[in-house]
Amino acid sequence: MTETSNAQWHDEPTDYDQAGKLPRLRSSSSNAETLGSLNITAAATDPELLDLPWHIALEQWPASALAALPRGISRHIVRFAHLGGSVIAVKETSEHLARHEYHMLRKLQRLDVPCVKPVAVISGRTTPEGEELDPVLVTSHLKFSLPYRALFSQTLRRDTLTRLIDAQALLLVRLHLIGFYWGDVSLSNTLFRRDAGSFAAYLVDAETGELYPELSSGQREYDLEIARVNIAGELMDLAEGGLIEEKVDPLATSELIMDSYRRLWTELTEKESFELGERWRVGARIRRLNELGFDVEEYVIKTAENGTQIQLQPKVVDAGHHSRRLLRLTGLDAQENQARRLLNDMDAYRADNNPTLDEEFSAHLWVNEVFEPIVRAVPRELGGKLEPAEVVHEVLEHRWYMSEREDRNVPLAEAVQSYLDDELRHRRDEAEIMLTSDAKPRSTDDSRASTAR
Ligand SMILES: Nc1ncnc2c1ncn2[C@@H]1O[C@H](COP(=O)(O)OP(=O)(O)OP(=O)(O)O)[C@@H](O)[C@H]1O
Ligand SMILES: [Mg+2]
Repeated sequence: MTETSNAQWHDEPTDYDQAGKLPRLRSSSSNAETLGSLNITAAATDPELLDLPWHIALEQWPASALAALPRGISRHIVRFAHLGGSVIAVKETSEHLARHEYHMLRKLQRLDVPCVKPVAVISGRTTPEGEELDPVLVTSHLKFSLPYRALFSQTLRRDTLTRLIDAQALLLVRLHLIGFYWGDVSLSNTLFRRDAGSFAAYLVDAETGELYPELSSGQREYDLEIARVNIAGELMDLAEGGLIEEKVDPLATSELIMDSYRRLWTELTEKESFELGERWRVGARIRRLNELGFDVEEYVIKTAENGTQIQLQPKVVDAGHHSRRLLRLTGLDAQENQARRLLNDMDAYRADNNPTLDEEFSAHLWVNEVFEPIVRAVPRELGGKLEPAEVVHEVLEHRWYMSEREDRNVPLAEAVQSYLDDELRHRRDEAEIMLTSDAKPRSTDDSRASTAR
């Protein structure tokens, strides 16, 4: 377990009047009339927060304060705004819900679960006329993340959908492992980032969530049922709008989450028995879990009463096996599938160049000779299209396909140029697609981007 994930679920106080508040504004402030009673709870003080127009209802915020990024469907009013050099998401809600969600997200962050990062709760908002405005929850915008409806521009293909559902199932398993009951699992309450041809899912809406020391199987099943019903509804909605491949059956597809979740849960937690002579199976189980992207931090091995059998049960599993190895070897921070992909290339590079070279040194050479040159080759204007690790993954794929097609070993520099010209340049800028538009929507007619590969 990492240091952060040692936090206990009950560490975080849930009384709503805790330390960490920004000082109240003094009456000498130029904004004092409108901000006088503003109450900000934040983990780290970011004075620029005070520059935002909290005295105006979110729906009426001026375009100059807003960031045009794709946003999913929501009951509450949610807007993206610029804060210094970054972007925040602001949601107008009740004080109780805002505080509950803020604390829940903080706990989840500490437990190392993929979710959006909470920034502040702001209450006591009033208009200059003295009319009360709803409190807000502020989170930081998750870079390169997209709501599921922005992952395709024309129709959602079945295999893209399957990958989305697999990512959602993995997120749910990770949440359940740490004792989090979500209560409102849905594609809309999840954000997706591209992850080496698959997706990595992040929790975005923790409003209904609760943390327990452990979940019962009844609680897990209930959450899973909510997921199935919500996903079915979301897919039916897409089908009605002609936004999904016709051959996709919404109900049958929503069942996929059950299989995907149960398979993973069993693999991660199941007690396994085998003969004493088959001790090698302990190592095999652990390798299988590593392959799935988990490290086994703790397990229990018991011998059965008759002494001829052993039982193995993983106790604490921690996601991020490949990301951690990549980080340790190179300092690069990537998502799990990206890391797996990059590590494969790094291992192949070592085998091709100098198999006896120290692993860390070889990794360092790989960063200098493969990773960095690819990232540096991306022109500035294309830099916002994809995360660097995703670009490197795509270039490596592109090179592989090119070499196959042309039956020769295509040099890296040539593959990079061909990728930039033939692929990246034609990709739509995902960050610019507006779903729920605050500004005039851009056209989203590039079908190339409609699917992950
Ligand atoms: N930090 C963030 N980064 C990126 N997108 C975000 C962030 N916070 C919110 N969003 C976007 O805003 C949408 C709505 O947020 P959220 O689900 O929290 O609102 P809600 O009104 O509580 O939703 P619901 O209708 O499920 O109750 C999300 O689907 C997501 O697209
Ligand atoms: Mg929501």
